[in-house]
Amino acid sequence: MRTLIAGCGYVGSALAQELVLSGHTVWGLRRDPAGLPAGSRPLAADLTQAETLRSLPSDLDFVIYAASAGGRREENYRAAYVDGLRCLLTALAPQRSSIRRVLFTSSTSVYPQDDGSWIDEETPATPTHFTGALLRQAEDLLWDSGFSAVVLRLAGIYGPGRFRLIEQITKAEARCSEGPPRYSNRIHRDDCAGALHHLMQLPHPKPLYLGVDDAPVDICEVQRWIATQLGQPLPPTVSEEQAPPILRANKRCSNALLRKSGYSLRYPSYQDGYSAILDEWRRISPVPPL
Ligand SMILES: NC(=O)c1ccc[n+]([C@@H]2O[C@H](COP(=O)([O-])OP(=O)(O)OC[C@H]3O[C@@H](n4cnc5c(N)ncnc54)[C@H](OP(=O)(O)O)[C@@H]3O)[C@@H](O)[C@H]2O)c1
Repeated sequence: MRTLIAGCGYVGSALAQELVLSGHTVWGLRRDPAGLPAGSRPLAADLTQAETLRSLPSDLDFVIYAASAGGRREENYRAAYVDGLRCLLTALAPQRSSIRRVLFTSSTSVYPQDDGSWIDEETPATPTHFTGALLRQAEDLLWDSGFSAVVLRLAGIYGPGRFRLIEQITKAEARCSEGPPRYSNRIHRDDCAGALHHLMQLPHPKPLYLGVDDAPVDICEVQRWIATQLGQPLPPTVSEEQAPPILRANKRCSNALLRKSGYSLRYPSYQDGYSAILDEWRRISPVPPL
């Protein structure tokens, strides 16, 4: 199989590694392709610049679009998700009938719900912020492109080397909010790669899946669990008005469809995933228990 990963970063590289091991010829495309996994073929290109996409590999079987915005401004989102995807699909148009599938890594941020309700693929995604709106635009662009397309809406990605939550605890920057639970959703990097690989192999995939682990959970529970594992003080509780934005999101995303399609999560819960990451973090930055 010949596979192009466009935007081959954190998730793309994990997928590249997995696909190379299972015998794919993999091209990893990014602006700076230094350091891609062994066995993959680096492709230096800018997805928003059509002239850099003139020598894409021919006879591709699969294309995975996993570029990210790299900035919080609207133009960053438009470039990475809408302009980049449109440019790539245009460059791949001569291969439209032979490419088996194009997969796009979207985000559960397309769901603005913040009332703790359950979300699945049938829930209307009507984003109220430009971030989600531009992702929705990109999803429609792909679904309307004539390519066989699958969108995977990922929750917050965590995994090796991503220590943001752990560092918030150790720097005493984490806060819990008063009031009812604030449900958060996540997925381990290796399950992002695993789910994409699984969806590449399904004979008749649906157009849309949610990529989340088994357990939406109160973000404070995660913070308290990490603090306890590290022997750090529990995060202080603040009023709902003082709560930082991470505590305002509140929805429960279901992975029932992904599981029903046959995917088994490697890290079904945050405890499974963070145990390994905490070991890695302790090796790099040992913090003596207080
Ligand atoms: N992080 C999360 O929690 C989260 C949550 C939901 C969904 N997602 C989505 O999941 C996907 C994978 O995320 P990730 O964490 O793997 O992202 P990442 O590590 O930032 O990787 C994205 C890659 O895209 C490349 N890229 C960006 N703009 C490009 C352009 N114009 N031309 C070519 N390459 C470009 C970047 O490399 P260069 O800078 O070298 O070009 C980078 O390596 C993304 O689509 C992201 O939006 C992420």
